[in-house]
Amino acid sequence: MRLRHWINTAPVDGAAHNLVMMCAVAIVSALLVSSTAIWLQPKYAAHLGAMRATSMASLIESIPALASLVMSSSADSLESRLIDLDTGCFVENVDVDAFDARQAENDPQQSRALTSDDGDTATLLKRRTYLQRVHLLYDNTALQMVILPVHGPGYQSTLHAWLVLAGDLDTIVALNVHEHGETPGIGSRVEDPLWQKLWTNKKLLDEQGNLSIGVTQNTATSPNEVDAITGATRTSLGVSNMVRFWTGPQGFGPFLDRQRRGDPC
Ligand SMILES: Cc1cc2nc3c(=O)[nH]c(=O)nc-3n(C[C@H](O)[C@H](O)[C@H](O)COP(=O)(O)O)c2cc1C
Repeated sequence: MRLRHWINTAPVDGAAHNLVMMCAVAIVSALLVSSTAIWLQPKYAAHLGAMRATSMASLIESIPALASLVMSSSADSLESRLIDLDTGCFVENVDVDAFDARQAENDPQQSRALTSDDGDTATLLKRRTYLQRVHLLYDNTALQMVILPVHGPGYQSTLHAWLVLAGDLDTIVALNVHEHGETPGIGSRVEDPLWQKLWTNKKLLDEQGNLSIGVTQNTATSPNEVDAITGATRTSLGVSNMVRFWTGPQGFGPFLDRQRRGDPC
């Protein structure tokens, strides 16, 4: 009552009156924004789910070998799991669908800075999440393929790709760069299916079991080498570093090693 009396009697151009009105407008705006956010949350989650389903569908379409394998197996055999990158173990207590890797990479609670102690290719990435999503394709109970999301710097942009490995977790089934901002006609040739095809059947590991995959500026002569794109060596090296980082000890390496050894956590 006193407040109403004060509002009615206070001079409309007084400083106190203006302050009260500003506070009232701020409180109402904050309430509106937060209730809109709460109302939109389920729609946002549904949209994210649809986006993921679409990108999975386009992934399968873009890799013929994967499409034919998925067609010849039950759709249920493609599953997405979260991996603890340090231990290489599956993570059960975090919702795989809700995990947003790009947001997690900028969140100090969900990622850490990479330093030169993490290896040559690590500092190019600056940060790395503790968890990452992988997609696993089973034929009955046998692991047929693993699809790893990988990213890293190219010449002038971040490259995002799918690296598809066969069940031996050594042979590359496909490398599909699906997002980048490289120079059109130069670095953009990473999209060229003919260049991406050069990665198919290449091996991550040499005969001693060391990680040896990479591009060469000469002609590839070993199962671990891929020809760089002429005139776009920097982008090609970006792809090479990205594949090496994510299949190495700071990336999916501990997970791949565990799976190769058949060593459950
Ligand atoms: C405007 C401009 C854009 C360029 N864009 C790229 C690029 O997207 N990717 C790349 O690898 N090199 C790019 N380059 C070329 C690099 O500077 C460098 O010359 C090249 O990577 C070396 O490749 P090469 O050894 O095969 O000639 C660009 C150069 C210029 C002048």
